[in-house]
Amino acid sequence: MRSDEARPADQTIGARSASAETGIESHLHESRIFEARKDFGASVGGAYVRNLKEYRARFKRSIEDPEGFWGEIARQFDWFQPWTKVLQWDLPDAQWFVGGKTNICHNCIDRQVLQGHGNEVAIVWEGEPELTRDAASAPRFEVRHLTYSDLLAEVSAFANVLKSLGVRKGDVVTLYMGMVPELAIAMLACARIGAAHSVIFGGFAAAAIVDRVQDAGSKIIVTCDGAWRRGSIVPLKANVDAACEQLPDVRHVITLRRTKNDVTWFAERDHWWHDLTRAASRDCPCEWCDSEDLLYLLYTSGSTGKPKGIRHTTGGYMVYTATTAKEVFNLVPGHGQLYWATADIGWVTGHSYVVYGMLPNRVPSLMYEGAPNAPAEDRFWDIIERHRVTHFYTAPTAIRAFMKWGNEHPLKHNLTSLKVLGSVGEPINPEAWMWYYQTIGGGRCPIVDTWWQTETGGHMITPLPAATPLVPGSCTLPFFGVDAAIVNEKGEEQPPNTGGLLVIRKPWPSMLRGIHGDRERYIDTYWSRVPGMYLAGDGARRDERGYFWIMGRIDDVINVSGHRLGTMEVESALVAHDAVVEAAVVGVPHEIKGTGVAAFVTLGPGFTPSEALRKDLIEHVGKEIGAIAKPDMLRFTQTLPKTRSGKIMRRLLRDIAAGRDTRQDTTTLEDFTVLAKLRESDE
Ligand code: PRX
Repeated sequence: MRSDEARPADQTIGARSASAETGIESHLHESRIFEARKDFGASVGGAYVRNLKEYRARFKRSIEDPEGFWGEIARQFDWFQPWTKVLQWDLPDAQWFVGGKTNICHNCIDRQVLQGHGNEVAIVWEGEPELTRDAASAPRFEVRHLTYSDLLAEVSAFANVLKSLGVRKGDVVTLYMGMVPELAIAMLACARIGAAHSVIFGGFAAAAIVDRVQDAGSKIIVTCDGAWRRGSIVPLKANVDAACEQLPDVRHVITLRRTKNDVTWFAERDHWWHDLTRAASRDCPCEWCDSEDLLYLLYTSGSTGKPKGIRHTTGGYMVYTATTAKEVFNLVPGHGQLYWATADIGWVTGHSYVVYGMLPNRVPSLMYEGAPNAPAEDRFWDIIERHRVTHFYTAPTAIRAFMKWGNEHPLKHNLTSLKVLGSVGEPINPEAWMWYYQTIGGGRCPIVDTWWQTETGGHMITPLPAATPLVPGSCTLPFFGVDAAIVNEKGEEQPPNTGGLLVIRKPWPSMLRGIHGDRERYIDTYWSRVPGMYLAGDGARRDERGYFWIMGRIDDVINVSGHRLGTMEVESALVAHDAVVEAAVVGVPHEIKGTGVAAFVTLGPGFTPSEALRKDLIEHVGKEIGAIAKPDMLRFTQTLPKTRSGKIMRRLLRDIAAGRDTRQDTTTLEDFTVLAKLRESDE
C-alpha cells in the first residue's frame, strides 16, 4: 500500500456494538480509506460522477424527485410508445413507466444496429480450453466474437423458432444451459417475442428443474447436450430427461450441441437447436411489450424449503440495470473497454450484468465457460491479459481462492489493462479486499463492492469509481434513488454503528414485482416485519460517514460461495433420504466459501452412523439440489436441541458447528443432555 493512498479514517476503531432490539452485532475495525483517484476519469474516457459532491447532489435530487430523475434517464432509451406516468406506487406494488411500450431486446441490439454500430463486438466468449481434455497439447482456445448484427440475426432466428413451437407472449420458457453465447441469445429471443424466461443454473440437479418448471408452468425447455467443466461433461440434457419423467406438460426440449456426448433422444419432444435455427428466418420484429410485462422469473432461495420465483418486468428493469452498469462500472463506449463478469448467467448477476445491463451500454461483455482453476489456476489472469479486460467483476469467494492458490499466478500476467474491479455476492473481508486491490488492481483500480440481491434486480449500495472514497469491507453509499436505511423492528432509524435491519423505504425501478404465484409470501417476506418498507433480509450498520456495512442474513438463508441457499432446502433434501428422520442445517464459517454448510442429522431405526452413510448423505444432497449445497460438515446426533416450543435451536447449532463455546445460553434447552451428546457425536 502506498502511504499517500491509505489514510486513517476519522472513525472509532476497535469498537463493538450490538442492537438490543435486533441482536445484530457489529464489529468495527477498519481504519483504511482510499480516496478516489483524481485521474480516474481521464483513464477511462470520462467519469459520469466525478466526486462526492456531484454524487450527493444527484442523490438528493433522485430521492426528492424520483419521477423527474428516472423519467429523464428513461427517455434516453427507445420506447415504441411513451409512458403516461413514471411511477405508480401502491405499496407494496410498483409500476414504473406506466403505459409505456418498449422491448428490452430492441434496446440491447436493434438500437445499436440502427445507430450504425452493427459491426461492433457485443459479446466475447471463451470456451473451456481443450487442454483440459488433452493434457499433452498446448491449450487451444475457442473464442467467439459476436457483433450486434450477429446477435440480431441469431436472436431473431431463435425467436422465430420459439414462435414456431407455439411460444406466445407471456409464456415462460425454461433455459437450463451452460455458459455459451446461445444462452444469452435464447434469453434475448424470449424478450424479443414478449415471452418470459426462467434460467436454471446449470449446476442444479434434476429435482431442482422439476420444482422450477412446475412452478413456472413452463412447457418448453432449452438445454445443451452437456457443458464443459474442468475437462468433464456436465450432462445437462440427461438431467432434463430425468426431470421430464415428472413433467408431463413439457412439450418441447431444444438441445444445443456443445460437448457432442451421446444423448438419449425422445422423438416426440426433442429438437436440435441447429436443425431448427437453420431453417428459421432471420427476420423477427420485436413485440411491443408493456413496461410491466414479465421479462423473467429467477428462482432464489428463501427461508422455506421452496425456492421463490422472483418476477422482474420490462421497463424499470431495463432502465435501472443499464444505468447502474453504466455509472457503477463507468462504461464508456468507443474507448476500448472490455467488461468481464465471471458470474454464471444462472444467477442474477449474469442476468443483469452479463446481458441486460451491458448490451445497451455498447461495451462488450465477456462470457467464459469452465472454471477458474482449469486448465490452471491462472485461467482468469490469462483471460484478462489475452483479451485486455478493463473491467473485472467477481465474488469474494473467488478472491479468497485466488489468494490461497498463490500470488505467482496473477504475477505471471500483465494485468495493466484493468481499470475497475468489482465484488458481489457476499461481504468482502478487508484482507481479501486489500489483496484484490493491490495484487490484481496494482493499487490503481477502484473496487466497486456492490450490495444487491436477486430481488433488487440491480446494484443498490455501491461506490462509484471516480467519486467514492473506499473503505475495505464496506459497500459504501446507496445508488441514486435508493432510500436505504438501518432500522429496528418498529422502522425507526438506528444511530450510527448500531446493527439493525437493512430496509429500502422507497420503490426503485428494477424492484421485484412479486413472487410468482405466491402473493402472500411476497408480502410476508418483504413487507410485513417492518411495515411500509422493503426488508432485504440482511443485517447491517451504517458508520458515521453514512457508509453501509453488511453483516449477513437475518433469516435461514446462507451465502455459500456467494450463492444463496436456504437451509430448509438442504434439510428437505436430507430428510428425503430413507435413513434420515430429522435434519437441521446451519451455516459455518468457511475459509474460502465464506459460509459452509453444516448438517446435523438424526437417523431412523435400523440405521447406524458410519463414514459410508455420511458420504452417501452428502452425495444425496448433491443429487437432490446440486454440488453447491453439499454439506461441508455432517454430524449424526440422537436428537436435535429444541426450545420448549419445539423450535430447533439454530444459534446453538451454529456455535457447535463453528466450535464456539456453548456453555451459556442453553437454559431453554428441552433436554440438556442433547448438548453433551452433540459434543460427543462423531465427526
Ligand atoms: O446477503 C446479501 C449478499 O447476497 C444476498 C443476495 O443474494 P442473491 O439474491 O443470490 O444475489 C447475489 C448477487 C447480487 C444479499 O442479501 N450480498 C450480495 N452482495 C453483497 C452481499 N453481501 C455483502 N456485500 C455485498 N456486496
